[in-house]
Amino acid sequence: MSSPEAHKTPSPKVAAFLQRSHGLLIGGEWVQPAAKGEIAVFDPATEAQIAVVAAADAADVDLAVAAARRAFEQGPWRRMSGATRAKLIWRLADLLIENADELAELETWDNGKPMHDTRAVDLPVASELLRYFAGWATKLNGISASIGDPGDYQAFTVREPIGVVAQIIPWNFPLIMAVMKLAPALATGCTVVLKPAEETPLTALRLGELVAEAGFPPGVVNILTGIGEVAGAALSVHPDVDKIAFTGSTEVGRKIVQASAGNLKRVTLELGGKSPMVVLSDADVEAVIRGATTGIFFNSGQSCMAGSRLIVHERVHDQVVAGIAERARAIKVGSGFDPSTQIGPLVSQTQFQRVTGYIAAGLKAGADLIAGGERVGDRGYFVQPTVFTGADPSMSIVAEEIFGPVLSVTAFADEDLEAIAALANTTRYGLAASVWTQNVGKAHTLAGLIRSGQVWVNGHHVGGADLPVGGYKQSGWGRENGRDGIEAYTEVKSIAVALRPAGDWLALKG
Ligand code: NAI
Ligand code: MG
Repeated sequence: MSSPEAHKTPSPKVAAFLQRSHGLLIGGEWVQPAAKGEIAVFDPATEAQIAVVAAADAADVDLAVAAARRAFEQGPWRRMSGATRAKLIWRLADLLIENADELAELETWDNGKPMHDTRAVDLPVASELLRYFAGWATKLNGISASIGDPGDYQAFTVREPIGVVAQIIPWNFPLIMAVMKLAPALATGCTVVLKPAEETPLTALRLGELVAEAGFPPGVVNILTGIGEVAGAALSVHPDVDKIAFTGSTEVGRKIVQASAGNLKRVTLELGGKSPMVVLSDADVEAVIRGATTGIFFNSGQSCMAGSRLIVHERVHDQVVAGIAERARAIKVGSGFDPSTQIGPLVSQTQFQRVTGYIAAGLKAGADLIAGGERVGDRGYFVQPTVFTGADPSMSIVAEEIFGPVLSVTAFADEDLEAIAALANTTRYGLAASVWTQNVGKAHTLAGLIRSGQVWVNGHHVGGADLPVGGYKQSGWGRENGRDGIEAYTEVKSIAVALRPAGDWLALKG
């Protein structure tokens, strides 16, 4: 644990931002919420309140949706060329980099994660997502279709923006999540109401300022800070929202599906996960130890794709477990502002209680605790990287998403790939998986048998803007990133043009 002194005071720019009164971004203006609701924002490393933001309610949601609708129907946005939209999106990416130090610091105050991560990972990833999707703005083409006889019809499809999109995001990668949602919507010509998580609203608010600075037309991006059950629920049920894109818990995903039924809005969901890391007996053990440690503990385990179930062949089990446990014990847990920190606190008291509750449940169920298991310090939401062995699928630490630095290890003796895949697939989730083996045939076979949206071979957390992410089973609906991700913000329109007068079908009945 780093000393409290390592927890710095905010830089002047960030201090000024934290002290400001923050409104809601609606129709290009920062406005106060109708009912004057507020949300306190806390530093998860000290539990101290660091800012206050506005809490939108249903009346504010109505205003934001109306602003997005006006911008979509009447504004210049949808009528601009893709190339012009791309330039604005690219400009926003530039502004993220120009303001990277400030944004990275804000993210660390808000979420707790190490600032060397927010600066070296979150900011570049966010700006590259914008640049990637900017490229799609000029490449959203349909197909030409053959119907009738040659010369009868010219038929083709076009992809049009879905319309007004509500985007509800979580707190684990606040800025990346905001940009991953915004970028494809903007590239297609949709307009957006974005609601960040109540735990981490700060970088979304700063992003809203940069959106204005970049020169987006008013109302194209609206940002509402607010409570999920209030503002999020109002967006999900809103009759004038055409699509909702959500990342968060499976439980809330289900509520969003129900709420969206009223106007049958399009829904994409990126939900929970319980991703297996499957280690065969021929795996490169050193690579597994390094990769699996990152797979579970990166971002304090607060990742939907965290490799939270290690499923390992008994021949290499002891060696792999000993290596991971040793690395887990050596991980430096502390303030995100201490340059030597490797993982920061959990995001909130709620998550701290949830994660420590799962650790207690694992102990009670009889799993063997071989590393961690304790809180770190007595202030802030720090939890030790924790490893349980002897975990079986009936235990809650194996069955449920913990979303913290807790790994459960299950050994297997089987050589049969179908049986191994069945073990990996014993979960209601299907977001990601990694397979560790040096045998190319086994790697491909398992990749085919595992039911999840992503399978990595000899790596974990491998991705990029061009590679779709999303879930099988209860991990969600649809995909984000890549062509699949952008197409999810479009409607397909089929157009058929008759090239000469058609025959009279009534005449045929004579
Ligand atoms: P959550 O699903 O409640 O929150 C995510 C977002 O949904 C936030 O913006 C929240 O304001 C909003 N929300 C909450 N209730 C809503 C409702 N009724 N209608 C519309 N929007 C609503 O997740 P929470 O409570 O922060 O975390 C609980 C668990 O969810 C975590 O322990 C983890 O297992 C999972 N989770 C998964 C994430 C992922 O990346 N797939 C991200 C965050 C949480
Ligand atoms: Mg919740």
